[in-house]
Amino acid sequence: MERSTSGGGDGRGARPTAHELARYEALFAARTRGMKSSAMREMMALTERPDVISLAGGLPDTSTFAPELYARLMADVAAESTARALQYGPTEGMAATVGCIVEVMAAEGTIVDPAEVIVTTGGQQVIDLVCKTLIDPGDVIVTEAPTYPGAIPTFSAYQADVEQIDIDAEGMPIDALESTLDRLQAQGRRPKFIYTIPNFQNPGGVTMSLARRRRLIEVARERELLVLEDNPYGLLRYEGEPLPTLYSLDAAAVGRGGASDLVIYLGTFSKILSPGLRLGWAVAPRPVLEKLNLGKQGSDLCSSPVTQMFVAAYFAERGTEAPLPGPAWVEYVERLKNLYRRRRDVMLESLEEHFGGRASWTRPEGGLFIWATLDDDVDTTDLLARSEGVAFVPGRAAYMDGRRGSSSMRLNFAGVPDDHIREGIRRVGRIMGGDTGLLGTLTGSPPAPTSPAASKREPNDDDLTPLADIVALPRRDAQDPARPARRRRDR
Ligand SMILES: Cc1ncc(COP(=O)(O)O)c(C=O)c1O
Repeated sequence: MERSTSGGGDGRGARPTAHELARYEALFAARTRGMKSSAMREMMALTERPDVISLAGGLPDTSTFAPELYARLMADVAAESTARALQYGPTEGMAATVGCIVEVMAAEGTIVDPAEVIVTTGGQQVIDLVCKTLIDPGDVIVTEAPTYPGAIPTFSAYQADVEQIDIDAEGMPIDALESTLDRLQAQGRRPKFIYTIPNFQNPGGVTMSLARRRRLIEVARERELLVLEDNPYGLLRYEGEPLPTLYSLDAAAVGRGGASDLVIYLGTFSKILSPGLRLGWAVAPRPVLEKLNLGKQGSDLCSSPVTQMFVAAYFAERGTEAPLPGPAWVEYVERLKNLYRRRRDVMLESLEEHFGGRASWTRPEGGLFIWATLDDDVDTTDLLARSEGVAFVPGRAAYMDGRRGSSSMRLNFAGVPDDHIREGIRRVGRIMGGDTGLLGTLTGSPPAPTSPAASKREPNDDDLTPLADIVALPRRDAQDPARPARRRRDR
């Protein structure tokens, strides 16, 4: 049967043809109609192509981890704990791993009770479990605009109604949040939770100010609303003073050394150690934690004991720095910070050189991403298709309906070496400058015309494409006549 492929040439990840889909259509649950491919998943296929400079994924630089240390720790786990490592583990996670999580959170000034922690299969699973626990179709989630592109498919799959609030240089404006909450209240609707990424926001790169954090907690307490605080990047701060987590501010508001009772905290080992381990965590009020645990039992029973034991072994390691070595994980995070700070600066310089006068961009104090917005309303989805083997995330991927963010792009500075950053930004800048690019080389077809009139047009129904189509480069082998290059969303 004929198939079109995305990503690697081995046929994995192949998209079914319309004919193949039709056979199963009647069986699919209603919720699958709203399901979208994550921009990030599509980007992963691109990042595996050696000819593409990827500024797209949310990738940390895992090549910085010492291979000997990885090999030794894995060998220790294998030799000393064979049976436990190869066995199922508790759904809530292994005690030793929870101990590491408590240590990471303490490093950010947040004290948590180990009994309120659940180990998950990445932070992504927390978003999924929180939706599984709280969201019925049509329930409201309030979040930032733009927001984490990887949360969008999850919100869609649970058929949430998502209200996005435009962020500025200090994150989500709380007066705008309050107006939205008032409007919803007038309609008799109470959001199930507020989803925010307060530190070095993905994709916006901005950080929520202390005043807004305090006010957000006040608003949540006044209105009895849950907050999902997504904080993968808090420890990757390159300059400026660390700010307290929403979790710790809410715990302080509860008083008497209590735990937060309105903030669900999401953490992950992905950015401070490795995304390949697939380990994250949630800290949540006990009644919510109990439901998350039940939800996780139905999803995957437990997160991998092999990687949980690897983390525990790693956290027991001492570093090498004289005269007083600290924990190895802390030293590693320091090294990552030095590396990523330099790469951020290289990207900022390159943007000045190649985008200067034609775009604006954020200057993040930490994290992995810069958010750039082009002055001329150039559609970055089109730009991606013509971008001479450079990948970035088009801004539309960070908006629920894909209608907004069309002239913005998310750029990752952390996962690629300096010369790739310079070259990638130079190439995108050149295409922005009107050069026709090498679309034909990439796709076998000529570039779509991008007259200023076309790129300045009002959004129309053709813009309501699934994210998979928004971010996938047109395919050289897309010959299935039943599958136009950009499909309309099912109505
Ligand atoms: C804001 C945010 N939340 C959650 C995640 C999920 O990370 P993981 O599942 O690797 O822990 C990411 C990954 O990039 C992210 O940027």
